[in-house]
Amino acid sequence: MGKMDTVDSGKFPEIQEILLEKKLAGKLIGHKLYYLPETGSTNDDAFRLGIAGAPEGTVVLAESQTQGRGRMQRDWHSPAAANIYTSLILRPHLPPSAAPQISLAAGVAVAELLEQYCPGRVELKWPNDVLINGKKICGILAQMKTAAENVDFVVVGIGINVNISKQQFPAEIIENATSLISETGKEISRQDLIIELYENFAKWYNKLLQNDFAVIKKKWLSLAPMIGQDVQILFLNEKVAGKAIDLDEDGSLIIVNGKNEKLKITAGDATIMKKS
Ligand code: BTN
Repeated sequence: MGKMDTVDSGKFPEIQEILLEKKLAGKLIGHKLYYLPETGSTNDDAFRLGIAGAPEGTVVLAESQTQGRGRMQRDWHSPAAANIYTSLILRPHLPPSAAPQISLAAGVAVAELLEQYCPGRVELKWPNDVLINGKKICGILAQMKTAAENVDFVVVGIGINVNISKQQFPAEIIENATSLISETGKEISRQDLIIELYENFAKWYNKLLQNDFAVIKKKWLSLAPMIGQDVQILFLNEKVAGKAIDLDEDGSLIIVNGKNEKLKITAGDATIMKKS
């Protein structure tokens, strides 16, 4: 391997499980850590743990995933010792309809965290992709299990491209993906970033638990350049176009179409058509 594609395996400090556990002891998110050198998908592991009764704030963290999954049946590129692949188990006392708010809170938490490394360059793309310079640096995949009318648990899976070099991205995403090392020119300590991530997620999640979605929405809107722009939403084979005007309480994107009708978009991928 050449210098450019060695990332931090061997060369840079690896994640130290014991140190991480010490630093996360007693924290809302991460007090119980399952650290795996390799797994299929941390979301699947967390879901199994959730079913087995794992408490709120349990996290799964992997060095690599063999079947990392994204939204809309996509794969999530998950090579070893380069990035963050983690899934959080949450047990909020919220109705299932509030679940999308949790992923929006996660998007805000990651975006705010990455702002520290790339000030003024971080954007959110509905529903919760985090972009830098228009390229995706983080994806979030939330899955919920309900019990009767309530949320039993929610798994929030977060993938952040940290020390992966541009050349290591597969050809099909190379133009649309980025990483912290590509954007800053510096290797970043994944260990530190993980601690900051759980901490910042807890901050925004607490606002949700205090019924303050308004503050999450405000921050989300401030980071989302698509609001006020013409967008196109693709979902399976359907295409809807209109001007994005707002984010609804249930996490859907509100657009106004050519007939001046307001539509609530609950699924799909939204892309800005042109900037005015
Ligand atoms: C997306 O943008 O499509 C969501 C990507 C989510 C990737 C993360 S990595 C950790 C967790 N485990 C998975 O299999 N997926 C999520």
